[in-house]
Amino acid sequence: MNERIAVLDFGSQYTQLIARRIRNLSVFCEIFPFDTDVTDLGRQGLAGVVMSGGPSSVYGKDSPLPDRRILELGVPILGICYGMQVIGHMLGGKVAPTGKREYGRAELHIEKRGRLFKGLRSRLEVWMSHGDRLSRIPDGFETLARSANSPYAAIADLERGVYGIQFHPEVVHTPKGMNMISNFLFEICGCRGGWTPKSFVRSSVRDIREKVGKGRVICALSGGVDSAVTAALIHKAVGRQLTCIFVNNGLLRKGEAEQVLGTFKTRFKARLRYVDDERGFLRKLRSLRDPEEKRKAIGERFIRVFESEARKLGRIDYLAQGTLYPDRIESRSVRGPSSTIKTHHNVGGLPESMKLRLLEPLEDLFKDEVRNVGRELGLPESIVSRQPFPGPGLAVRTLGEVNKERLDILREADAIFLEELMKAELESEIDQAFAVLLPVKTVGVMGDGRTYQNVIALRAVTTEDFMTADWFRIPQDLLARISTRIINEVEHVNRVVYDVSTKPPSTIEWE
Ligand code: XMP
Repeated sequence: MNERIAVLDFGSQYTQLIARRIRNLSVFCEIFPFDTDVTDLGRQGLAGVVMSGGPSSVYGKDSPLPDRRILELGVPILGICYGMQVIGHMLGGKVAPTGKREYGRAELHIEKRGRLFKGLRSRLEVWMSHGDRLSRIPDGFETLARSANSPYAAIADLERGVYGIQFHPEVVHTPKGMNMISNFLFEICGCRGGWTPKSFVRSSVRDIREKVGKGRVICALSGGVDSAVTAALIHKAVGRQLTCIFVNNGLLRKGEAEQVLGTFKTRFKARLRYVDDERGFLRKLRSLRDPEEKRKAIGERFIRVFESEARKLGRIDYLAQGTLYPDRIESRSVRGPSSTIKTHHNVGGLPESMKLRLLEPLEDLFKDEVRNVGRELGLPESIVSRQPFPGPGLAVRTLGEVNKERLDILREADAIFLEELMKAELESEIDQAFAVLLPVKTVGVMGDGRTYQNVIALRAVTTEDFMTADWFRIPQDLLARISTRIINEVEHVNRVVYDVSTKPPSTIEWE
């Protein structure tokens, strides 16, 4: 089964969300730039096309328009917001400014259900966000629904299977949006579904075997989800042709190295090289205070160690990387809002001379899908549902000087914090939580004497995408317990503070 949907990206902040919704319905879909040549969309398995919204006006100078032949492909098309206006514009309808931007909730009055609104009531709440709207629909189209401000809130050429909707079915503010997307996929495009973590593992294992043949693969394990799932997947495909390299840089959280080793070495019986280079990393960090210099030094050291380990293995053909779909599409996004490209600091700079080919089996997956694939492969929940942890690790949470003593203080405090959050069953509500060791000492009193000791700051945030974040409201009695435990159990700490800043203007990390 290789049915798929192509999503054309006209720059909407919701493009990735559309793709995720489709995949949540077990149909594979891919995002393409709006002007992709239709021949590059691939004909095989293509069941339908979705055109996303976007910030432009079809009448603007240089407004993004797709390859005209898209309309001749003969597969159903769903245009959302700007995507609908593109359809109207290309087929001879008329698009005009609304005069005033329509933004927010609106009531949709369905006049004709067709297949798109099958099974839905005739009045529905939907989410609008547009400045232009259709003022005349193209020949051959009919109106399926209207709203107070949009006489053509949904239109269709039922014969050709071309649909346009002015609202956004992909956002949660359109409560029946998933039913509409599902109708488009299954009623209109004739999809069968069946794209699941299980089917992904099956086809991915086959592809990896075919690609790698008898070759050898190396993969750096960081302890994070992406590299763990990459390694587990490749291990399932080619077993001991894969060698994992785990570098302990001395900047890991408490128990992290043991957990990764336990899973891969003991349970999966994977070929694994464990390199303890704590001293090497700490030596490089000794004189550094600046966060960016710390990051750079850690990245460079990692590459050196990884390269020298890899050389000991003899001939290697592939380097496996945990690149994900968002990494890939963000780097080629049309004019999407998030143009930041995350580089994988841990492998990005490996010398060209190693001449390794890349193996990136997760490059089509979103993070939540990676977690599900990890579960399917039998990785423990402690790894699969792990929060993101920065590559430079505790070095950027040990503000100021980084040395073993200070790292140990931070590790202990961090472990207590996370343990208490887990006991209170708050892990699923918090997206990232950690302790930070501040570079100041404060006065305290213990027994009869005054102390001059360290301060631990606690940070716990909720976030959708890590671009913005809010601080988590930890119950006060829990905060009290955490603070007492840290001060009593961690030597050299006499004060605990809680970070109540949002991002922006603060960031999630302190450095
Ligand atoms: P900030 O602090 O920028 O963090 O709000 C956003 C997310 O990125 C993580 N982060 C990093 N991850 N290398 C990484 O791999 C880094 O240097 C780095 N700095 C921040 C941070 O933990 C959060 O999840």
